[in-house]
Amino acid sequence: MDLSNVNVEEIVRQVILNMENKGQSASTGSTASSAGGSQIPKTARVAMLTALEHFDIKEFPIPEVGDDDILVKVEGCGICGTDAHEFKRDPFGLIPVALGHEGTGEIVKMGKNVKKDSAGKDLHIGDKVVTCMIFKDNPDITMFDLNKQNVGGADVYGLLPDDDIHLNGWFSDYIFIRGGSTVFNVSDLDLYSRILIEPCAVLIHAVERAKSTGILRFNSRVVVQGCGPIGLICIAILRTMGIQNIIAVDGEQKRLDFARQLGASGTVNFKDFKGIEALAGGVKDALGGYLADFAFQCTGSPAAHSNIYKFIRNGGGLCELGFFINGGDATINPHFDICSKEITIVGSWVYTLRDYATTFDFLKSAKQIGLPIEKLITHTFPLDQINEGHKTNLAMKGLKIAIINK
Ligand SMILES: NC(=O)c1ccc[n+]([C@@H]2O[C@H](COP(=O)([O-])OP(=O)(O)OC[C@H]3O[C@@H](n4cnc5c(N)ncnc54)[C@H](O)[C@@H]3O)[C@@H](O)[C@H]2O)c1
Ligand SMILES: [Zn+2]
Repeated sequence: MDLSNVNVEEIVRQVILNMENKGQSASTGSTASSAGGSQIPKTARVAMLTALEHFDIKEFPIPEVGDDDILVKVEGCGICGTDAHEFKRDPFGLIPVALGHEGTGEIVKMGKNVKKDSAGKDLHIGDKVVTCMIFKDNPDITMFDLNKQNVGGADVYGLLPDDDIHLNGWFSDYIFIRGGSTVFNVSDLDLYSRILIEPCAVLIHAVERAKSTGILRFNSRVVVQGCGPIGLICIAILRTMGIQNIIAVDGEQKRLDFARQLGASGTVNFKDFKGIEALAGGVKDALGGYLADFAFQCTGSPAAHSNIYKFIRNGGGLCELGFFINGGDATINPHFDICSKEITIVGSWVYTLRDYATTFDFLKSAKQIGLPIEKLITHTFPLDQINEGHKTNLAMKGLKIAIINK
């Protein structure tokens, strides 16, 4: 994966420029350039989560595009675990809300001040784009900061409180990208790759965090625990980096089989073992008689967190990224698990803008070496069947479920 050509200075210049432009986007739609306004309808359908486990398809007027704004015709959007939580419980108290943050689409109209994306690439009508985050006035959140401050304080489209624009999420026909947002031109990626950018950025960040320990190396023996989309993407990224010795651990054989397609050199089904000692023995066997140099914890299960230390060698490393939500406490033995083994542990939480740029390169590299990353999208639904899509997601019938517009 060659990242040397990412022009970091330019990206940052643009981020700062965007931040300066923020708030000046009032409503001078008359100055906006347009692909042919006549093709843009007056209204757009938006899937609003209006009650627990229920989306309504609402129709809202498409607002005037201001000098710094972009109107995007949505092509598709993945359903994320966070959406599943919102759908089931609304933990963020956002209902009614336009959800969908793993989306992509085509620019159909943009204001006269919009010239470049957040990486310094030109933007034109017809370009395919994704968004990352919307900056608040916080210069600490930049793409350089590998956790000087993570993006927990930034907003993202698809998780915004409803307002009088309403076109705030990617489960819709059109999304209204306001000045000050981050936007990337990803016209060189196909639709499924673009839908997978957001979850892939989570793992690019996790691998960067892992690399910061100095333990994850070219010839490392690695365990990836959990083969949902998160663990599977982790495996693909490690493989793309040239790491060969990757053992996937899960209880679902179908997922373990897919882990092999994405680059795992071996798999361990924890259901084949009784007790953690036996399971650790199984992992060791799969690694040719060695414990792992490094492990990625990609489940939300406290028991899995407790187990993973047993898979790691003395002086090894661990990246814990599975607990995006509070899944409860996990029991560990500080003597055996951390202190006497001198384990180095890093946590990983979402991503930075910098990770987005890296993710685009990863997706291209993965394809080049023949990893079938697009097969992660197992089910697709049109916008008007969004309730079915989310129910399929909750039933865990596939891996990544996506809403695809015609
Ligand atoms: N750090 C972040 O920024 C971030 C971002 C997104 C998601 N996440 C978290 O990552 C986790 C994984 O996400 P996902 O979408 O892949 O979820 P998922 O539920 O689809 O996958 C989890 C997998 O773990 C397996 N599993 C459960 N218990 C296990 C155990 N004891 N040992 C081994 N495998 C076990 C399950 O069979 C399943 O295949 C979630 O908990 C999510 O909250 C973190
Ligand atoms: Zn997501």
